[in-house]
Amino acid sequence: MPYRSAFERSGPVEVIEISASLLAADYARLGQEVKRAESAGVDSFHFDMMDGHYVPNLAFTPQHLTALRQYTRLPFYAHLELANPDEVLSKFAVLDADMVIVQKDTLPDPEKTFEKIRARGCKVGLGLSPVDSVEDCASYFSQIDLLLILGVFPGFGGQTMQPNTIEKIAVARKISADMNARITLAVDGGVNHKNSGGLINAGANCLIMGSALFQEGRMKQVIKQIRGLIEP
Ligand code: DX5
Ligand code: ZN
Repeated sequence: MPYRSAFERSGPVEVIEISASLLAADYARLGQEVKRAESAGVDSFHFDMMDGHYVPNLAFTPQHLTALRQYTRLPFYAHLELANPDEVLSKFAVLDADMVIVQKDTLPDPEKTFEKIRARGCKVGLGLSPVDSVEDCASYFSQIDLLLILGVFPGFGGQTMQPNTIEKIAVARKISADMNARITLAVDGGVNHKNSGGLINAGANCLIMGSALFQEGRMKQVIKQIRGLIEP
């Protein structure tokens, strides 16, 4: 299924894309976790790929995406939380992702990396860590499909959202509106049903959620509650 962003599917705040971050899923039953999340109503799946260097953790590999592809036709996002995305992108023979999201502070030449991602037939996402400024990357807005604002320092799920996250989303929404840039604005890390309203009001239209979906035991209600924030 070709990836269609929340922006393409509707207006920036008329639809919310909920992307399930599998970092918080039960690793002994990943296929069933994908099925569970799909039937609960998520729109896409998010795979954190870590290297134990850029972040002090390890997570998914390209083989996980390939293995899980048989369980769903929903889009897959690969979030590269690793130090050398250019090298890794050149070496992966197969990466079954609809979108590749790279972290801004790992890119010596962002435009080159974006080209590399597009050459693989994938959409382009740019990730910002809590210390990265939104204003500094405004010039890339016309070249990307999705801007990911990390609400936590990368590496681990289950952390509390940094207090400057909402403000960063509002700034990104304003800049993208002023530029008429058709990007999806995603938040990743610490998103839950309690803070979603504020994030959506600030302009987020994609919520990437790990613990708040997989470790709550009531995934369907959480999703319904979030969709209810914008859908009457
Ligand atoms: C953090 C990852 C996130 C993480 C979010 O390094 O990029 O995708 O899985 O997990 P929660 O939703 O539990 O904060
Ligand atoms: Zn992530």
